[in-house]
Amino acid sequence: TPLPPFDLVIFGGSGDLALRKLLPALFHRYHDGQIVDGTRIVGVARDVRSDEDYRAQVRTALAPIAATEGGGEAALAGFLKLLHYQRLDLGNDAGWAEFSESMRRERRVRVFYLAVAPQLFAQAAQQLDAWKLIDADTRVVVEKPIGTDGTSADAINDALGRVFAERQIFRIDHYLGKETVQNLTALRFGNALFEPLWRAEHIDHVQITVAETIGVEGRAPYYDRAGALRDMVQNHLLQLLCLVAMEPPTSLDADAIRDEKLKVLRALRPIDAGNAAQLVVRGQYRNGAADGRAVPGYAEELGRASNTETFVALKTEVRSWRWAGVPFYLRTGKRLPARVSEIVVTFREVPHSIFEGVSALAPNRLVLRLQPDESVTLWLMNKVPGPGGLRLRHVPMDLSFAETFGGRHSDAYERLLMDVVRGNPMLFMRRDEVEAAWKWIDPIRAAWEAAGDAPKPYTAGTWGPSAAVALIERDGRTWQEDAG
Ligand code: BG6
Repeated sequence: TPLPPFDLVIFGGSGDLALRKLLPALFHRYHDGQIVDGTRIVGVARDVRSDEDYRAQVRTALAPIAATEGGGEAALAGFLKLLHYQRLDLGNDAGWAEFSESMRRERRVRVFYLAVAPQLFAQAAQQLDAWKLIDADTRVVVEKPIGTDGTSADAINDALGRVFAERQIFRIDHYLGKETVQNLTALRFGNALFEPLWRAEHIDHVQITVAETIGVEGRAPYYDRAGALRDMVQNHLLQLLCLVAMEPPTSLDADAIRDEKLKVLRALRPIDAGNAAQLVVRGQYRNGAADGRAVPGYAEELGRASNTETFVALKTEVRSWRWAGVPFYLRTGKRLPARVSEIVVTFREVPHSIFEGVSALAPNRLVLRLQPDESVTLWLMNKVPGPGGLRLRHVPMDLSFAETFGGRHSDAYERLLMDVVRGNPMLFMRRDEVEAAWKWIDPIRAAWEAAGDAPKPYTAGTWGPSAAVALIERDGRTWQEDAG
């Protein structure tokens, strides 16, 4: 359904995120008829340029998408008409009066997307308030990471909280907008089959892998200050863990779901100086190969030596009646052999095998694949058909989203941006979730610092340092590379 015209202002309007994610997402929503003419999309940056210059830049970014994914020239031309450019500097007042006046001419939903460094969030909030740009229908969107630790996150949240109500603040974690991630909630709570088994009595362990083949590309200045723990684990991986582990919420109400996720974050077994050496592995890639070509190591890309990790593997536990004793193994990294993101739930073995001497039994696994192709697979033991002797094999029962549902899969940002305009915070992080996540992450960093723990090297194109393999093999388990 089409949304009434709204104003969306992107601070960092010609940055990487805007050009690669936000504007393509908005373009798709426009082409689908959800965004109507009269809507204004304003790109804000510090340099001088005209609307036409800005449209030309966005055209270059979107033309290949319009040509291959739908819409073509007609849709692109229509979409570009919604775009405007506004020169503003958060540090001074030039241009703000005029900008504020043009915004306030219409009373409609107004969204400010802060696609800028988190150090600028507080200033942005102050300026928006000072120029009277915030009313009840105004919302603000902030990207992760919210700060670099609990203390800086608090400062940012305080600054936002001084001028926006919590329901107006949309902390985005784009993993929550991914189809398979939303489907996890559908699978768990839309079927009677899984929930009775979804507990320590029946589940042996859970693995969450988010592997990328890319390096840090042009983002080294940001990435080197963040590292994989803050860039991926603090937000995306912990959110996935929450959705796997949370208790059934009583409804789809945003707070009902976020209350349950929060309980999971608070129940995570802490990792600190006392146990970090056993429970976390940090790595950094050296030169090697990715996507079939030779690639430099992280330090070479950066141009200097660095102690920042590009890989993390860890083991934790949710300390609750449901999950006591069930390990959750998480890992993520850049320059791994494949771009694959998966949640693998491994069930316990049968209590007694009547197939001894016939076939070894492998445990049932439920694999939710987020990337590159979205699918749900349940691995079962089956009889190999034929008149010969009885033989069993572990085989996949497969649900591929592309085959079952067809069509183009919308990007996470499409769903999330429209949720912001509608004012639906269900797929966004509440302040206390962000706080709880940092509270669990900060002691890990502190432990690394105290121990002077340098990341362990791994060759680009491999599954991380060998210590990551040892982390899980010590427990008699293995990482599921292709989920057999
Ligand atoms: C971002 C991280 O949040 O997620 C990046 O900052 C990472 O480092 C990206 O590459 C991965 O997102 P996706 O959707 O490609 O899995």
